[in-house]
Amino acid sequence: MNAAVTPRAYDVARVRADFPILSTTVRGKRLAFLDTAASAQRPLAVIEAVDRYERGSHANVHRGVYELSQKATDAFEGARERVRRFLNAASIKEIVFTRGTTESINLVAQSWGRRLGPGDEILITWMEHHANIVPWQMLCERTGAVLKVAPIDQRGELDIDAFRALLSPRTKLAAFTQVSNALGTVLPIRAMIDAARAVGALTLLDGAQAVAHERVDVRTLGCDFYVFSSHKLYGPTGLGVLWAREAILREMPPWQGGGDMILTVSFAKTTYNELPYRFEAGTPHISGAVGLAAAIDYLEALGIERVHEHEQGLLARASYALRSIPGLRIIGEAKEKIGVVSFMLEGVHPHDLGTILDDEGVAVRAGHHCAMPVMEFFNVPATARASFGCYTDDADLQQLVRALSRALEVFG
Ligand code: ALA
Repeated sequence: MNAAVTPRAYDVARVRADFPILSTTVRGKRLAFLDTAASAQRPLAVIEAVDRYERGSHANVHRGVYELSQKATDAFEGARERVRRFLNAASIKEIVFTRGTTESINLVAQSWGRRLGPGDEILITWMEHHANIVPWQMLCERTGAVLKVAPIDQRGELDIDAFRALLSPRTKLAAFTQVSNALGTVLPIRAMIDAARAVGALTLLDGAQAVAHERVDVRTLGCDFYVFSSHKLYGPTGLGVLWAREAILREMPPWQGGGDMILTVSFAKTTYNELPYRFEAGTPHISGAVGLAAAIDYLEALGIERVHEHEQGLLARASYALRSIPGLRIIGEAKEKIGVVSFMLEGVHPHDLGTILDDEGVAVRAGHHCAMPVMEFFNVPATARASFGCYTDDADLQQLVRALSRALEVFG
């Protein structure tokens, strides 16, 4: 139950024992859960933290003088401080809770984005998730700004020279993913941030697929916005984080009106609350924040660096094993990847493949992965995608390979 492992060895069996869902079966088969990129499973530490909160501490936050409300407020604000430490942010004023990565990006587009006008440009990459494309398209429609897209190559790597060439003093924001959810590519974010800063553009980093796999220090990175979701970090769904530099947040107007984001309301004039509450209208996901704090504690106790190393080993072994399967093509072979392998099996639609794998207890995502431009680039309708987390083990990989052999038998 305790996340601690010995400092030397990464004991995946012990980690797996922390995740109750991994001992369930699917169609009478052992569950090989290989869809962590879509949503990570929860360790007991998170489930129990949420349960404890619900049983003993729940009330609304920031509103009651009574003890229970104080307790809930302490738990919620304690979680904010935990997130601040995790990201090495300068202040809790910079940590805004949202519903997820998608909402965090929409918040920036709708609030910060109001300052844009015709002639301004936003630069993204071809590898973005729809959540880091559509809000900017909508913003461009509203403001007359222009969306530019930096291309990728056949390996699934960013063309960094083209990215640099697309930057100019007109670029007001470069918004890009740290890791591609569809391909697993790790982007050269430091070079990208430096290049964007050199032309005076702000940078927004989509950390949804990175934050559970690599250490993130927003002060060292030098970006201006960093966004991620709790549920990809072993925490509850329905909660995300927007980190932004305090000086930038101060200049941003509120985007949603309601309770908690105000100081005073009258029909003549309403004044807004301090940071970060100005961006958190309505009752927040309190138990979610408590769960996220427990998830961060859990991951830190495992050691993100050791988890990273474990996942890199899985990635290497999975890529090797999959390449030996006749007719299998890996989509996305960047030099630097996290634990994601997207693939196609010749003659089998990824959805049919997903169904056969499911029959064998193997859970992978089949589809466009909310990254249709990536599918278009590789000229495929969809891929099957296996993705790894701290609990993924070699038995999962073996089960995947066996299930793929079964698919080959079925489809001849
Ligand atoms: N963005 C999530 C994924 O990549 C849902 O599957």
